[in-house]
Amino acid sequence: MSNAADLTADLDALVADAVERLADASDLDALAALDAELLGKKSAVTAAKKQLGGLDPDDRKVAGQAINAARTSLEAAVAAARERLAAGARAAQYEAERLDLSEKLGEIRRGSLHLNTQARDRLEDVFVGMGFTIAEGPEVETAWYNFEALNIPEWHPARGSFDTIFVNLGEPEEVMLRSHTSPVQIRTMENQEPPIYIVAPGRTFRTDTADATHLPAFNQIEGLVVDRGITLGDLSGTMDEFVRAFFGGEVKTRLRPSYFPFTEPSAEFDISRPDGSWLELGGCGMVHPNVLRNCGIDPEEWQGFAFGFGIDRLAVMRYELDDIRELVNNDVRFLRQF
Ligand code: PHE
Repeated sequence: MSNAADLTADLDALVADAVERLADASDLDALAALDAELLGKKSAVTAAKKQLGGLDPDDRKVAGQAINAARTSLEAAVAAARERLAAGARAAQYEAERLDLSEKLGEIRRGSLHLNTQARDRLEDVFVGMGFTIAEGPEVETAWYNFEALNIPEWHPARGSFDTIFVNLGEPEEVMLRSHTSPVQIRTMENQEPPIYIVAPGRTFRTDTADATHLPAFNQIEGLVVDRGITLGDLSGTMDEFVRAFFGGEVKTRLRPSYFPFTEPSAEFDISRPDGSWLELGGCGMVHPNVLRNCGIDPEEWQGFAFGFGIDRLAVMRYELDDIRELVNNDVRFLRQF
């Protein structure tokens, strides 16, 4: 380095060249390399600084200022280039990650579970909480499961009361849409040793004409308990507990003596409506010894109770509907309210 004036001229040229190269840098990696080259330990400005000691004091002052000015200019140019490249990189990333949501515009609405599904889920929760497990059976049944094993032989007048929808298969009146969920009792006892604590929700079918309280395709939940020393007290205690858990405190229950071939004694189970009238929910009773025997269970050792309730009617009560047909009209304006 001859003198301060030369040094200043060299540095000016260096800065001018550097500004051009920085403007050409096409990505952040190239910029990092340039940054190291122009301002790092081995850069020209760092080297120039080391030589200041060899200059006389006046020159040293001028040269020092020139070096500092060059460094400041280089740092500003590097910072500007970094800003330019970072903005470009961001824009490229935004473009690459952009999602086209335009097709999803318009009305987006969340669906909800049907009232029957909500009622059924809640019933399952209540009974599972009481120690029951969930069982299932087919919707198309044979006469054995829908009637005979349930102590309803062919000649039995109770067969007529079930208003059964028969399927045109096999012998006449041999295959049918199940008219209640009670066949799941039989299937469970055939496959499982007692003690048994199950509930079986599912669709059931009868030739009923739809009205405010009936549907030809409806849903029941069957309950079956088989254990040692089971009494009518266990049945009514379970019913009360279930109603309390399902409805809360306000609903009253009553058992009315009734008749089913598969239970003895049998009762009809009613719950109180807000207006004080009673709504029949279904039947229940102590499992008939013949039914236990039909499934290879010794009635001397094991006793049980069973019940079968209409889920749709439970939904009508719980959601205070005026008409059970609302459940199948599929009017979303109605269903959306729940
Ligand atoms: N299966 C009977 C019905 O649908 C109800 C019931 C179930 C009665 C279990 C007693 C025991 O009418």
